[in-house]
Amino acid sequence: MRVTVVGASGEFGSILSEILEQRGAQVTRAHRATGVDAVTGEGLTQACAGADVVVDATGTMVRSATESEEFFGAVARNIAIAADETGAAVVYLTIYGASDPAVNKKMGHYRGKAVQEATYAEMLGGAATAFRSTQWYSLPEKFLAMMSVGPFGAAPRMTSKPAAVEDVAAAMVDVVLDPNRPADLTVAGPAVMDLADAAKAIAAKKGSPKKVFAVNFGGAAVRAGGLVPEHPDVTTTTTFAQWLERR
Ligand SMILES: NC(=O)c1ccc[n+]([C@@H]2O[C@H](COP(=O)([O-])OP(=O)(O)OC[C@H]3O[C@@H](n4cnc5c(N)ncnc54)[C@H](OP(=O)(O)O)[C@@H]3O)[C@@H](O)[C@H]2O)c1
Repeated sequence: MRVTVVGASGEFGSILSEILEQRGAQVTRAHRATGVDAVTGEGLTQACAGADVVVDATGTMVRSATESEEFFGAVARNIAIAADETGAAVVYLTIYGASDPAVNKKMGHYRGKAVQEATYAEMLGGAATAFRSTQWYSLPEKFLAMMSVGPFGAAPRMTSKPAAVEDVAAAMVDVVLDPNRPADLTVAGPAVMDLADAAKAIAAKKGSPKKVFAVNFGGAAVRAGGLVPEHPDVTTTTTFAQWLERR
C-alpha cells in the first residue's frame, strides 16, 4: 500500500511513518522541508499522486482560536482537494472531544480541530476517516516546557484517558492498512488521569521544575469528562508508569 503522510516530521507523523514502513507500506513523507506546504497547497498534489491513503498528521503551535481555525481549515481543504484529485482515501488525526463546543470554547487549538473535522466531513464525507485520539503522555511535558520559570512550573488540570503516542500511532497504522477502515474511530489510553498530576510526576522524575502548580485552564468541560471517551474503539496498553519509567 502507498501512503502519503502529511506532517511526517512531527512527533506523531514520524513514528507513524516508521511503523507503516515496518509493516510493508511505501511511505511518502510530506512536510515543508520536502516542498509541501499544506496551508497554501503547494506540492500537495504531487506528494499525493499514486497514494492509496493520505494521512493528515499536521499540527501547529499557534495559540489563538482564529489562527488555529485558519491553519486546520486550510490544511483539511487542501488535502481533501488533493486526495479527491488523486483518488486517495484520507485518514486524519484529531483529538477526542475537540469538536464539542463545551470543550473547545476556551481552547483555541481545539477550535481549529473542530474546523478540521467539519471541513473533511463536508468535503469528503465517509471517504475520510476521523481518527480521534485522547491526549498523549508527552503533552504534560510540553506544558511544562512552555510554562516553567526557574524552579516553578504550571500545568493545566485536564481529565483525560491519555496514551503513549507510539501506541496511538500503531493503532492508526491498523486503520490505514485496513481496506475496510471505518469512518470514525476513537483511541484512548488505559486509565483516566489528571494531566496536571502527570506533569508533577514527570517533573519529579526529571528533578525539574521543583514545584509544579496545577492550574484551571480551558473551561470546566476539560476537567469534567469532556475529553474522556466512554467506549473507545481501541484501548492502548502502555500505562503512564511504564511510559515514565522509559523516560
Ligand atoms: N499532543 C497530543 O496529546 C495530541 C493528542 C491527539 C491529537 N493530537 C494532534 O496530533 C497532531 C500532530 O501533533 P504532533 O505533536 O505530532 O505535531 P508536531 O510535532 O508539531 O508536528 C506537526 C507536523 O505538521 C507539519 N506541518 C506544520 N505546518 C505545515 C504546513 N504548512 N505544511 C505541511 N506540513 C506542516 C510539521 O512539519 P514542518 O514544520 O516540518 O513543515 C510537522 O511534521 C496535531 O494536529 C494535534 O492536534 C495531539
